[in-house]
Amino acid sequence: MSAQQGAGLAAGVAPGHEAPAAECLNLYRFPALYDTLKAPDDEDISAVRGLMRRFVGDGPWSILDPACGPGNWLKPFAAEASRLAGNDNCLEMVEYTRANTGAYTVLGDMFELGFDEPFDVILEASGVSSLLPDMATLARWVRSFRPHLSSRGVVILLVNFEVPLPARLPATLWQTPWRPVPGGSARIRYELMGVEPALRTQHIRRTVETRGGNWPARIVESYDLRIWRPEDLRELQELPGFSLQACLDAARPENLHAAPAGERLLLFRPT
Ligand SMILES: C[S@@+](CC[C@H](N)C(=O)[O-])C[C@H]1O[C@@H](n2cnc3c(N)ncnc32)[C@H](O)[C@@H]1O
Repeated sequence: MSAQQGAGLAAGVAPGHEAPAAECLNLYRFPALYDTLKAPDDEDISAVRGLMRRFVGDGPWSILDPACGPGNWLKPFAAEASRLAGNDNCLEMVEYTRANTGAYTVLGDMFELGFDEPFDVILEASGVSSLLPDMATLARWVRSFRPHLSSRGVVILLVNFEVPLPARLPATLWQTPWRPVPGGSARIRYELMGVEPALRTQHIRRTVETRGGNWPARIVESYDLRIWRPEDLRELQELPGFSLQACLDAARPENLHAAPAGERLLLFRPT
């Protein structure tokens, strides 16, 4: 039994809903760090809000993040939501989101959601889809949301499509300056260490450094991300039971059919 399973009931797991066996990545054990370092920017938030207004209708909206982390994508919509909910398989994230966003949170696997009432928006906008191994699993994940959608409900997911690789590896993909965190400061860096074209994966190293506060001085972890290809978008356009209505670049939100290259917000409506 994992630590999460052992502590599952204390986290408020819905009755009959088994806590998952997954182990959290180390950074996920420090939700306040992740929260500060990965807060979404205004451009991304307003792109998601624009999609919700256009495809769901006027707020307030009931919103669920199926892999909510520290609630980074729930908090921005707290004032516009009729109901906020989060699910995550990491106990620390579940507890943090509950305490900091007021969302109803559940410890559970994102493929086995345990909510009784449906949602207007199922939103995962930080790229959890890249943790999935293949298209069949991504399609199964989207289909699993169907019973949790209201009559006007939609699914909004951030999907990472391939872009040309940097000339040399390792290469820094993204980093923050030092940012204040409780008791001190922290920064985060993502590096692309290598690629596995046959598996369509990228090896990523994530480094968090902290100064002051009661944090580990460094959290370094490596993991693989699946990078999706343009032909994957075509498959998603034919997903049974759903219609793909938008492929959006947050920097150009007026174009609902952006090319599948880089980070894209996909919006699915059940048919
Ligand atoms: C990158 S964070 C994203 C958090 C959040 N969606 C956001 O936008 O801030 C990924 C989260 O997914 C959770 N996660 C990964 N696999 C999961 C699964 N199978 N079921 C539930 N949560 C999962 C992790 O514990 C982590 O908190």
